[in-house]
Amino acid sequence: MNTKINYININDLRPLFREDNVIIVVDNSVYNYYKYMFVGFEDKVIVIGAKEAIGGCKDFVKDFATFECVCNELIRKKATINTHLYGIGGGNITDLVGFVAAVYLRGIKVSFVPTTLLGMVDASIGGKNAINIGFIKNALGSVYYPSNVYIITQFLENLPKDLLLNGFAEILKTGLLFDINLLNVCFKYLDNNDINKLNDIISLSVTHKMKIISEDNFNNRAFLNFGHTIGHLLELDYNLSHGNAVAIGMVYESQIAVLLNLIDICIFNEIHRIITKYFNYNIEDYDLVKSAEKILLDKKIIGDKIKVPVISEIGRAKLVEIKLNDYLNCISMKFNLTSKK
Ligand SMILES: NC(=O)c1ccc[n+]([C@@H]2O[C@H](COP(=O)([O-])OP(=O)(O)OC[C@H]3O[C@@H](n4cnc5c(N)ncnc54)[C@H](O)[C@@H]3O)[C@@H](O)[C@H]2O)c1
Ligand SMILES: [Zn+2]
Repeated sequence: MNTKINYININDLRPLFREDNVIIVVDNSVYNYYKYMFVGFEDKVIVIGAKEAIGGCKDFVKDFATFECVCNELIRKKATINTHLYGIGGGNITDLVGFVAAVYLRGIKVSFVPTTLLGMVDASIGGKNAINIGFIKNALGSVYYPSNVYIITQFLENLPKDLLLNGFAEILKTGLLFDINLLNVCFKYLDNNDINKLNDIISLSVTHKMKIISEDNFNNRAFLNFGHTIGHLLELDYNLSHGNAVAIGMVYESQIAVLLNLIDICIFNEIHRIITKYFNYNIEDYDLVKSAEKILLDKKIIGDKIKVPVISEIGRAKLVEIKLNDYLNCISMKFNLTSKK
């Protein structure tokens, strides 16, 4: 794992694009907000999601059609094995661009400039990339590390509030799993809008993720799946944003953990309190019984068991193996601990 994390200023970006072999894949919204950054580099740019893009791909989703479109654009731009690809945008862009880089000519250099909070603290770090196939999330993907991640917090200035909160779902996840101090810093930011705390929050979260992946132990990465088994179902079946889906997923998975006597109900209550304070949702709006069979394709399944993280105390977690049938039964019970208060 040789990714270098660079905290830079937005003005430091343009000089990087002057390198001869650069091709930039950029999110449409980011391109429109920050057009000035790409002036003079138009022939190096592929805009994702643009209707009339300069060398662009229409109707972006993290799907096979867009993947193919980007590859065709690379061929048209005569990208070679020496090309240095940049992915600039949120997690959808960095996941897609990372996957393109991993397979184009069997692998070309890639760097990321995450422009959402979720991208900065999570999606751009760790080398995991993927595209969805139909309703299967991250069905095609690889682990291929970016050379550089450039974190530029100025990008967050134009990010709508709900998208900022989206990133906080993954940060709260990190806090619940590993670091009560990170949680407390988050509360200071979220409750008092203490803007000075945002840089600390980002760097603490990045440090946690880098630590987990640099341990080079895929077992430890399994902790990061907290909220994601259920979250991925919600994301695809209810079209929720990734962060929202993970936030609700953390509550739902903790309910399952209580039901299976894996954690104390006090822990569940605290997780539920934290998530409902910041995320607006009603767990009863989501009927997961229909979605549950998709869990059978989940990468965390080993034989007839599923390995999931549970929060043993706030700021600490453990990995447990649960019989798949028990897990699915819990979902089909449609229980709701929150209504028993
Ligand atoms: N690879 C990983 O380890 C990993 C980890 C977490 C999430 N992910 C993936 O990340 C994806 C979600 O990422 P996301 O939440 O960043 O979504 P996203 O990439 O779709 O971005 C969200 C929206 O924000 C807009 N946007 C981006 N930057 C902006 C800016 N600076 N100002 C204004 N608007 C901006 C985009 O146009 C888009 O509409 C999911 O597909 C998820 O699976 C991957
Ligand atoms: Zn996630």
